Amino acid sequence: MEQTLVLLKPDAIERGLCGQLIGRIERKGFRIVALKMMLLPHEVALKHYSEHREKDFFTELVAFITSGPLAALVVEGDNVVQLMRSIMGATDPAKAAPGTIRSDYATSVRYNVIHGSDSLDSAKREIALFFKPEEICH
Ligand code: RTP
Ligand code: MG
Repeated sequence: MEQTLVLLKPDAIERGLCGQLIGRIERKGFRIVALKMMLLPHEVALKHYSEHREKDFFTELVAFITSGPLAALVVEGDNVVQLMRSIMGATDPAKAAPGTIRSDYATSVRYNVIHGSDSLDSAKREIALFFKPEEICH
């Protein structure tokens, strides 16, 4: 069974959306196998978003993701990487399909509430960045 890394970003925590967002993941039938609140260390944020290091929004992206507590989850299920991306919706909430999480909750491209790994390889890399193996339930 696949696993993916989900982050409830600092805007979601600040707005008190944690319960609603976790509820949507659970209602979809996925299993949460790891969960923690944390203030993301700057160096972990740089690694997590390293694919974007040349982009003009990189500094602001790292500043935002380290700006306050986030919730990190490992979510498990059949085809969960792709399906989490579908229920999250497009990066830009203005382009996200109605009924997706970002369409319903996100306020801008930057403040878009949730992260989900974009491939199985990214999921493996990102889960290892956020969690020790013994922190993940079996
Ligand atoms: P994420 O990695 O956060 O789950 O989002 P994503 O896959 O949908 O989007 P990605 O292309 O990986 O971009 C990562 C985050 O960078 C911010 N972003 N800002 N033009 C911009 O100002 C811009 N483009 C992307 C977004 O917050 C996006 O979530
Ligand atoms: Mg991404």
